[in-house]
Amino acid sequence: MHDRDGYRIEVLDSSHDRDQFQCGVKVLDEYLQRRAGQDAGRRVAVPYVLVDEASTVCGFYTLSQLAVRLVDLPQGMVERLPRYPLVPATLLGRLGVDRRLQGQGFGQLLLVDALRRSHAASQEVASFAIVTEAKDEESAGFYVAHGFCRLASRERTLFLPMATVARLFA
Ligand SMILES: CC(C)(COP(=O)(O)OP(=O)(O)OC[C@H]1O[C@@H](n2cnc3c(N)ncnc32)[C@H](O)[C@@H]1OP(=O)(O)O)[C@@H](O)C(=O)NCCC(=O)NCCS
Repeated sequence: MHDRDGYRIEVLDSSHDRDQFQCGVKVLDEYLQRRAGQDAGRRVAVPYVLVDEASTVCGFYTLSQLAVRLVDLPQGMVERLPRYPLVPATLLGRLGVDRRLQGQGFGQLLLVDALRRSHAASQEVASFAIVTEAKDEESAGFYVAHGFCRLASRERTLFLPMATVARLFA
């Protein structure tokens, strides 16, 4: 759990009110309202929510695992890795902040929380990098502003090496 002025970040559960959540991207709002709980139940994603004192959801993100093809990583990085076809990674699947609260540092708060949890988990189950899929250039900009690099083969897929994350939390 992470507190900031009465806000907390916790795993989504039925006590959280997400009916009014609007981040400006309809598919993300609908995902949170209709599918996030199912994904959690099926163990394909863990949704984390930023909630206020009334347990109203103000932001969210999801974490899962995925495998990245070695050939999709930058050459300089591949040279330092074993010749496995796939490397393990952590997927930051979705991230959104309610419109009312955008531009106040909550997106960054959620991202740092996701990095912290991903790093902690990677000390138990290895993960080479945190990967995310930006829905458009504007959201790609948010990740690039926070140090993410683009996969050469797919411009909207961004990643941050876990070694970089580890240095942040050292
Ligand atoms: C992208 C999003 C999560 C950012 O949340 P936010 O709370 O508005 O962002 P913050 O206030 O925490 O911004 C933190 C920093 O990132 C920067 N930033 C925010 N959005 C940015 C963007 N699109 N491009 C570049 N930088 C961006 C801010 O300028 C700020 O920089 P600073 O610390 O130097 O001032 C939010 O706008 C959102 O929910 N958008 C709709 C959904 C979306 O696009 N999700 C992205 C994943 S698909």
